[in-house]
Amino acid sequence: MAIDDDVREIENAGNPKRFARGWHCLGLVDEFRDGRPHQVKAFGTSLVIFDTPEGLRALDGYCRHMGGNLANGTIKGDSVACPFHDWRWGGNGRCTGIPYAKRVPGVAKTRAWPAMERNGQFFVWHDPQRSQPTDTVTIPPIPGWDAGQWSSWSWQKFEVNGAHCREMVDNVVDMAHFFYVHMAFPHYFRNVFEGHVATQYMHSRPRPDIDPEKSYGDEDSILRSEASYYGPSYMINPQQLEIGGQILDAVLINSHYPVTDNSFIINFGVATKRQEGVTAEAARTVADSLTSALSYGFGQDLEIWRDKARIDNPLLTEQDGPVYQLRHWYEQFYVDIEDVTPSMTERIEVEIDTDHAVTSWKREVAENLLATRS
Ligand code: FES
Ligand SMILES: [Fe+2]
Repeated sequence: MAIDDDVREIENAGNPKRFARGWHCLGLVDEFRDGRPHQVKAFGTSLVIFDTPEGLRALDGYCRHMGGNLANGTIKGDSVACPFHDWRWGGNGRCTGIPYAKRVPGVAKTRAWPAMERNGQFFVWHDPQRSQPTDTVTIPPIPGWDAGQWSSWSWQKFEVNGAHCREMVDNVVDMAHFFYVHMAFPHYFRNVFEGHVATQYMHSRPRPDIDPEKSYGDEDSILRSEASYYGPSYMINPQQLEIGGQILDAVLINSHYPVTDNSFIINFGVATKRQEGVTAEAARTVADSLTSALSYGFGQDLEIWRDKARIDNPLLTEQDGPVYQLRHWYEQFYVDIEDVTPSMTERIEVEIDTDHAVTSWKREVAENLLATRS
């Protein structure tokens, strides 16, 4: 018998080579509305995004004539014009004109990606099987968004290299990292997965033993958060912050899209609910400060993701949350639609008993405070 038979080994089957089926947010609609075509590197390829009278459209980035990069072209009429020989491509993928040619070849059609604008953001649908999205998996509108009840988005992007986006989704169930990585103090934590939606319910307080700049609120404030992934990559996270007797309603969008199988872009933003007597400017200022606190939190996650190992067999305790169940839920987006099993989409509900964690963390915080004061 080998001496180290009882050593737990890390299992790692490598990142999946395919990309998730689902709606992916590429950014705010305004980013793409400046009258020029835009390149977005995503899903191991390159897309061109441009504005048309019917709204923003997404095509394969490379021209079917001789491979020119359409994002370096211009918008002419309702089409994007290639910089190489001026072939024009409409939002539906059809070639709409070739000024120097007598006729447009009948087969001149490129791939148009299903696209959608919602909540002031732009989405494309990705599916290796080339299906069209159905209403059941659509991105829900944020209540009151279209009616102007929210501040504008305070928005940021991060690029993460050297990690698969599964790392980010794991956060949904990872109660303990909120204390160590995000400097929050969770005391209520529950997950529900059902269909294509995975939700995290969390109540937390800021840690009183850290620099208040890195947090929001004081130790008496409470954050009630309900964060749901709709599909593989887009989370809507209504948050209610109770601070100094005031209640602040905010909504956080936490989304990503893969660039390659080992890198992804995070798009995230915060909007705050407009309140009686609060100017749009003031609401936006609050949104900006929440965004900077949250972006600090993302920075912390990033540090971890950049240097961690992919691990397919995490070693868990009872307080760790349903990591395996979450990953099984997540798998539904990486298999053909006919291979989605009932166990991937069935309702699963897990609440973590946080009593022990809270007691232990309170002690740690008290010791830290004592050490800094003495
Ligand atoms: S490569 Fe695009 S027009 Fe020729
Ligand atoms: Fe995190």
